[in-house]
Amino acid sequence: NLYVVLMAGGVGVRFWPYSRNSRPKQFLDVLGTGKTLLQSTYERFLPICPAENIYVVTHEEHAALVKEQLPLLKEHQILAEPMRKNTTACIAYASYTIHEKNKEAIIVVSPSDHLILKENEFREIVKKAADQAKAQDKLITIGIKPTRPETGYGYIQYHTEKSFTKKVKTFTEKPELSLAKKFLESGDFVWNAGIFIWGAEAIIKAIQTYLPEMAESFEEIKSKLGTKEEKEAIRIVYPQCKNISIDYGVMEKATNVFVCLGDFSWSDLGSWASIHEISQKDENNNVIQANALTYETRNCIVKGSGDKLIVAQGLNGYLIGEFGNVFIVCEKDKEEQFRRFVNDVKSKQ
Ligand code: GDD
Ligand code: MG
Repeated sequence: NLYVVLMAGGVGVRFWPYSRNSRPKQFLDVLGTGKTLLQSTYERFLPICPAENIYVVTHEEHAALVKEQLPLLKEHQILAEPMRKNTTACIAYASYTIHEKNKEAIIVVSPSDHLILKENEFREIVKKAADQAKAQDKLITIGIKPTRPETGYGYIQYHTEKSFTKKVKTFTEKPELSLAKKFLESGDFVWNAGIFIWGAEAIIKAIQTYLPEMAESFEEIKSKLGTKEEKEAIRIVYPQCKNISIDYGVMEKATNVFVCLGDFSWSDLGSWASIHEISQKDENNNVIQANALTYETRNCIVKGSGDKLIVAQGLNGYLIGEFGNVFIVCEKDKEEQFRRFVNDVKSKQ
């Protein structure tokens, strides 16, 4: 009864110009392992989930890319969204689809762009959580011990019980920096890893409760899911869906949220700084993924397509990269500026 839903519809603005509209981060071999993040995520679940129960939800313009990267997926396992409506719509689409096939389904929802180093530990936690989700009407998420006051994550405060799944007291999505600092200092909070485990029934019930209009739209067309009429029906439903993440839409509000603590070397690879942190570095703390010569250069990422020689001297903390038709040199840790670049590039075109 176990199903996996891989959410692969994000755009990855923070990695521009490496990731583009045409190829967001999940479709790239970000870590230089020979596999894209989507492929690694898929393979991570194969030992615990039958291949025919793994679904990928993505924007329709990337459906062909998903098929190319995961050739074993059947057509009906790729759910194509006509527009981006954030993760609640994506989860609703997949949950109704799976529920139509199997009312008892237990679903693991996972981002497709994270790194997990201790994969066995990860799978053990997911299996245990899936057992718990089966028995009860629980929305389960995985909590990670925080190491910095990151404002891009959800923070979870929980009842300190000995049990594997702990009842959640508060769920705060993307707090302000001052609040994130307080959460970190208090020692009572964990980060939401963004990986959810629940029964199809339980998540549908939660969407019905907290986003009734969205649930209604899907209820109306659910008998068409998995049939020839699906595409047309989804085209009608999606424009009606509220654009909201599952964290704001459901997790912050629901009262049956539980967390299990995970320690499996997790990174959401959310920034160049996090890529730098986990990648192999030379003696000057540079990540070099290019044909490059560096002199008096430290803490940099040098990334290129390989055919151009990149020569750098006297730089500290920079991203120096050649990606397609863009050459970029900028301070790698200033995350907010990448959004600025993307906006300015858009307005130039
Ligand atoms: N299909 C589809 N459609 N997928 C989407 C969409 C969409 O409209 N929007 C986002 N996704 C995918 C992304 O590709 C990613 O794999 C996943 O859903 C999560 O979306 P993000 O946009 O990356 O969320 P986030 O990183 O800001 O926050 C979430 O993850 C954090 C941990 O990395 C939240 O769950 C936070 O609470 C959590 O801490
Ligand atoms: Mg993310």
